[in-house]
Amino acid sequence: MHRIWITAIAATTTLACAEPRGTAGDAAAVEAAAKAVVQQFVGQLKPQLQQAIAEGGPGRATAVCANIAPALMDELSASSGWSVRRVSLQPRNRERAVPDAWEQEVLERFSAEQAAGTPAQALNYGRKVDGQYRYMQAQGVEPVCLMCHGTDLAEPVKKALAAYYPEDSATGYSLGEVRGAISLIDLR
Ligand code: HEC
Repeated sequence: MHRIWITAIAATTTLACAEPRGTAGDAAAVEAAAKAVVQQFVGQLKPQLQQAIAEGGPGRATAVCANIAPALMDELSASSGWSVRRVSLQPRNRERAVPDAWEQEVLERFSAEQAAGTPAQALNYGRKVDGQYRYMQAQGVEPVCLMCHGTDLAEPVKKALAAYYPEDSATGYSLGEVRGAISLIDLR
């Protein structure tokens, strides 16, 4: 009797899995590809940011970041075939980081979920929107980020921000908050 039940359950499970396997497999693959692009971006930007801080201090690093980050996004977009950008509800770069309607909605949800206790790094979301796969990964505020996104900014940072981003709204953050997100569109 037991054996029959187990067989029946096994058969049902197989059927349930077999049906959507194609789409589920594709979805997992495209999500894995998105995660790899995110890793590549973070893996390249963070060391360069840290090096710039170590070599020239946070004021100089702000200027370096103003050039490095956009260049890196353009390079990665060209090499990966994905559209790669960063967006925020409080954008610093007004030309690049203002979210569209979908991104805005996802960012608001990320912020709400972070406020409710989910760590920012665990917040990501991917789905097909108007026939294109889109993926967002939240970026949380770590101690190093406060230097340029916190409340108590050093004079050289303030000066560099005023020079590069006169309309900056990306300060005043506390530790752990969602600073923004890396936003990808699969254009391959
Ligand atoms: C040395 C100063 C500095 C530090 C430290 C720093 N940032 Fe930034 N951040 C900037 C600058 C400058 C920009 C604008 C870059 C651009 O033009 O794309 C920026 C932009 C961003 C953006 C893109 C959205 C926007 O508002 O333009 C995100 C997201 C972001 N930073 C997250 C972080 C996180 C997370 C950390 C910590 C791991 C961090 N930043 C640390 C200076 C800094």
